[in-house]
Amino acid sequence: MIARLRRLGLILRFFAARARVRIQPPPPRVPLAAWNAMFDRSRLPDLEKEKRQLEGFDIALFVALNDPRVIGQIVFEYGTLVNWVSSWAGLRVLDIGSGRSTLPNWMIAQGAKVVSFEFPEPVERRWAGKLGRLNDFLLGAARRRLRQVSGSMVELPFADQSFDLVTSLSVIEHLDTNLPDRSHVPYAEQRKRAACVLDEMVRVTRPGGLIYLTSECCHYGRATTDAWRSSYYYHEGPALSGAWPIEDVPEIFYDYLADRGCSLIGPIVLDPAWPGADAKATFRGPQFSAFSVLARRESAKP
Ligand SMILES: C[S@@+](CC[C@H](N)C(=O)[O-])C[C@H]1O[C@@H](n2cnc3c(N)ncnc32)[C@H](O)[C@@H]1O
Repeated sequence: MIARLRRLGLILRFFAARARVRIQPPPPRVPLAAWNAMFDRSRLPDLEKEKRQLEGFDIALFVALNDPRVIGQIVFEYGTLVNWVSSWAGLRVLDIGSGRSTLPNWMIAQGAKVVSFEFPEPVERRWAGKLGRLNDFLLGAARRRLRQVSGSMVELPFADQSFDLVTSLSVIEHLDTNLPDRSHVPYAEQRKRAACVLDEMVRVTRPGGLIYLTSECCHYGRATTDAWRSSYYYHEGPALSGAWPIEDVPEIFYDYLADRGCSLIGPIVLDPAWPGADAKATFRGPQFSAFSVLARRESAKP
């Protein structure tokens, strides 16, 4: 009974949000100060237009963007991309590790052609049951038009230069887990695999195309707990994981992509000396944050 009432409440809140999107003019776009940046709760009001654009699309996006537990992290991750891309019409997009996200469907509804790429046995699956069916109905043609391909992101089964935009949101930190056996992957190997994934993302992006990813970071020297601990993918391993050491993020992501013929869009606002417990901390707790990477592939040869 309580579950039913909750579901009904959610559906009503979603349709109210959808009606608001249709009735009220959207707030103006605020160009972000940085698209390569750390999560910062205090900057979320700058993404109000993008949040409104997304949340009226379907219930899954509404939930992800309004979940009080993640205090706006999804607004940051999805909103930063939507803030940059001015037109989706005709864009060939590859989304790696889509999980249960319906952002790829939203992109299709804006005119993009999207391939959703997932592990053959996805760790995170789309909603099932009545809510899942209602949501599928809301997705309509944007569900039928989504092309799904499975494999591992360390070896993408796509031709060179075949996409205008390659995205991967909250996926690459899961390289701490070997799938499907769910054993822990030592850090040196995680870094090797991250380099493979970035090489693959660059390879399948056309020159002039964009690469966008988001991930998590942590000051492991200072962190003591992680509110997300029970959701780690591996069965046995270190007490804290699922985030890149913050001091290594520039080398693993920004410098690496720059060395592979990509240009980072705008300034990089990520401070490895971050004290760890202000508006940049995510729901995981003090010392955990998140970051975005937006780069353009410049040359034909990485
Ligand atoms: C946190 S979830 C997805 C988040 C989703 N992109 C979003 O925006 O909500 C991470 C997904 O990455 C997938 N994944 C993990 N390792 C992968 C790999 N090596 N290749 C492809 N997908 C992978 C998992 O199956 C899981 O569904």
